[in-house]
Amino acid sequence: MTTTEYDLATRRGRHLVQTPASPLATRLELLRNTLRPTPHVQLAMKRMDLFAKLEYVNPVGSIKDRAAYWILKRAAERGEIGEETTVIESSSGNFASALAAFTHLVGLRFIPVIDPNISSTYESFLRRMCPTVVKVEERDDTGGFLKTRLQKVKELCATIPNAYWTNQYENPDAMEAHYELTAGEICADFDSLDYAFISVSTGGTIAGVSRRLKERYPSIRVVAVDTEGSVIFGGAPRKRHIPGIGSSIVPPLVSHARIDDVVLISERETAAACQELLTAHGLFVGGSSGTAFAAIKRYAAKMPVFRRPSVLFLCPDRGTPYLDTVFDPAWAARLG
Ligand SMILES: Cc1ncc(COP(=O)(O)O)c(C=O)c1O
Repeated sequence: MTTTEYDLATRRGRHLVQTPASPLATRLELLRNTLRPTPHVQLAMKRMDLFAKLEYVNPVGSIKDRAAYWILKRAAERGEIGEETTVIESSSGNFASALAAFTHLVGLRFIPVIDPNISSTYESFLRRMCPTVVKVEERDDTGGFLKTRLQKVKELCATIPNAYWTNQYENPDAMEAHYELTAGEICADFDSLDYAFISVSTGGTIAGVSRRLKERYPSIRVVAVDTEGSVIFGGAPRKRHIPGIGSSIVPPLVSHARIDDVVLISERETAAACQELLTAHGLFVGGSSGTAFAAIKRYAAKMPVFRRPSVLFLCPDRGTPYLDTVFDPAWAARLG
């Protein structure tokens, strides 16, 4: 048994022996009713059975609802957050949106730390939901904003009383959310799977999902999908424009994932793949979904020809916030 398997087992055990829940933990637990299993749809493809799991059906609109809910719930169960807590997090949009909605619902304060790459839709949403939004403007040494955002989070945590950093880049509860919820649903829905393509940013999704899928489907190949210019899998840092995928640091959670292959996709290919998902398959989804689809099409040449493999990818969010960018042909044409 590896360290992470041990961790997940003991963490589940600890959950079962919880003593009386705090009122905050009880309020958070009620949220479980809104996080219902997300559907999957089959896309018409020549050489494979391709399934898209529609994570944008989550209540606030993305796969990050799962991590936000689970992290808050676990922190409340452990007594790490209480009624006076101010939650603080750096996010490119989806995670902050989920935290904004859930903290509001249970009566906690939340300060999101965002950067200029955020879509205007998410920024407007956060400014409506949160009295304070901190936007960093300075790029870090990799050309991205993540390091500047994390520095700002640390400064806020040092100065605000009862601050709690959900730390989506390192928090094992994010991985556990996907192990229990996202992957739990996949295992319930599919008797067999040959490939799973998962786009990576903090690594929480791929860590939790890959571990559970490898247990359930021992011969599955897990393909990590990243964007050119991201450093997660050893690439050279470069300016990136599409939020929700890639990172300018190597997130610790990625080391817990079970990855067989990595595919790097350019932002131009991402834009083309998003357009194709919309026009050829009727799926209006965001950049990381398109990146995974582009990776599947490129990887298809490596798949067996003697039988149709069953392939799954996640659609973490909808296309709406990307209308002025990924779905704007003039914007896409300017990509390197
Ligand atoms: C749209 C979108 N896709 C994919 C991801 C990647 O998920 P993870 O951070 O768990 O690697 C994110 C994370 O923010 C996201 O917002």
